[in-house]
Amino acid sequence: MEQQKYWDSVSKKKEFTTPFHAEEFTKYVKKQDTILDVGCGYGRTLDELYQIGYQNLIGTDFSEGMIERGKRQFPYLDLRKKNSAVIDLPDDSVDAVILFAVLTCIRGNTEQKELMKEIRRVLKPNGILYVNDFLLNTDERNITRYQKYYNKYDIYGVFELPEGAICRHHSEQWINELLSDFTAIKYEHLTFTTMNGNKSNGFYFIGKTAQSG
Ligand SMILES: C[S@@+](CC[C@H](N)C(=O)[O-])C[C@H]1O[C@@H](n2cnc3c(N)ncnc32)[C@H](O)[C@@H]1O
Repeated sequence: MEQQKYWDSVSKKKEFTTPFHAEEFTKYVKKQDTILDVGCGYGRTLDELYQIGYQNLIGTDFSEGMIERGKRQFPYLDLRKKNSAVIDLPDDSVDAVILFAVLTCIRGNTEQKELMKEIRRVLKPNGILYVNDFLLNTDERNITRYQKYYNKYDIYGVFELPEGAICRHHSEQWINELLSDFTAIKYEHLTFTTMNGNKSNGFYFIGKTAQSG
């Protein structure tokens, strides 16, 4: 939770941009299903879902500022401040989890694995996970910053932004390992425009939990 302050500080001004493929998601998730958006920011994805008829929507984010902004912008959404690494919901209680551009905010392997474990815990058997996030880039600007911060963070792809954020771009090998408990339905490479207007490699993944939970 070391980056909470940063996300609070930008909560009024940042617009998040990683794309939501509604046409894919709606193939696997029914309108009455319970959907949890982890690291929901100000709730832009949940609002898209609400607008197309989904009703059981919950968003959690560790930034109070993001949650406050979301409540002002979309007063009909159920947005909750997340106070710890634990997701405050029972085991096997949600049909789908959305995780958009959140792994990029969590630099450590252990913390990322813990988050995925929590997501698995709250997802029902046959639950759907939809993730999008950033992959490593090979342009000079990115390579320079990956190399600059490698000694400090010990993971290639972690870097600091001048404004104070610590971000991570991931190797595909790591993403495969992180998502290995889920059976992939869809995995595609994308080019994202970042929240600061640059281009980056990215992916989106839709997967299913194993039947046994
Ligand atoms: C880049 S934004 C994306 C927000 C949203 N998912 C979207 O795509 O519009 C990342 C969000 O994740 C939140 N966040 C980062 N790490 C988190 C964590 N460990 N638990 C909960 N929220 C987290 C930040 O506060 C921020 O709102």
